[in-house]
Amino acid sequence: GFIYQLKGLSNLEDKLKELLNLKNIFVVPGNFDKDEYILSDIGKEASKHILNVIKDNNILGITGGTTMAKVAEEMPKSNSIKDILVLPARGGIGKSLETQSNNIAANIAYKLDGKYKLLHIPDNIGKEALDTLMQFDEIKSLIDSIKKIDVLVFGIGRSDTMAERRNLSKDIIDILEKEGAVSEAFGYYFNINGEIIRESNTVGLNLEDFKSIRNVIGIAAGAQKAEAIIAIAALRNDITLLIDEGAAKEILNKI
Ligand code: BG6
Repeated sequence: GFIYQLKGLSNLEDKLKELLNLKNIFVVPGNFDKDEYILSDIGKEASKHILNVIKDNNILGITGGTTMAKVAEEMPKSNSIKDILVLPARGGIGKSLETQSNNIAANIAYKLDGKYKLLHIPDNIGKEALDTLMQFDEIKSLIDSIKKIDVLVFGIGRSDTMAERRNLSKDIIDILEKEGAVSEAFGYYFNINGEIIRESNTVGLNLEDFKSIRNVIGIAAGAQKAEAIIAIAALRNDITLLIDEGAAKEILNKI
């Protein structure tokens, strides 16, 4: 019954906390790989966590992806927190789905009765062009605000899936695989120990910034993302991890 299921999940959470050395893990019932509606539950749960930690005048950083898109969709309309600013954590690091981080920022800002700013940086832009863009006051001040993110909510992806989504070349995809990349988050590709294998050429949040943000919420669903999640858990032991049961059980199998 229901009580048994709740107990089972909190056992699972406790085991994971110990194994991953993380303080805050929340497991949503179900496996996204078998039931796509689980993503809505993750979105609802993430919304609750965001509303719990966010305060007046905070800067909320977000990333793109299908999981984050669900967070925006499931976020209830609320005007209880004043003057929220929502920002994409990094500039355009991919095609279709990811450039949606701008949409997601706008949607969440609308739901929270706040403001948003957009970061328009083309994909795979060269270093020189990037440096030139950085001279613009508008972009400079946006990057400054990104460095002041109070609450970050980000999607966790598989390295191979994200490399494909971003149209990386076959050579780079091979290198990522050879060097053991399993995870991708906010433009970085990591191995299972959370070590950087590659970084996307863009601007915004970097790993150092990530480590000093007050509240960080990582979200992911599906057993297929188990290793990707293990890698992220190695980055900081005080992040909040919000995953589905499918991913949680597979993590136990992998460790
Ligand atoms: C991207 C984030 O937008 O979403 C990545 O920038 C993350 O950090 C990815 O890996 C996850 O995507 P999805 O669609 O699986 O939620």
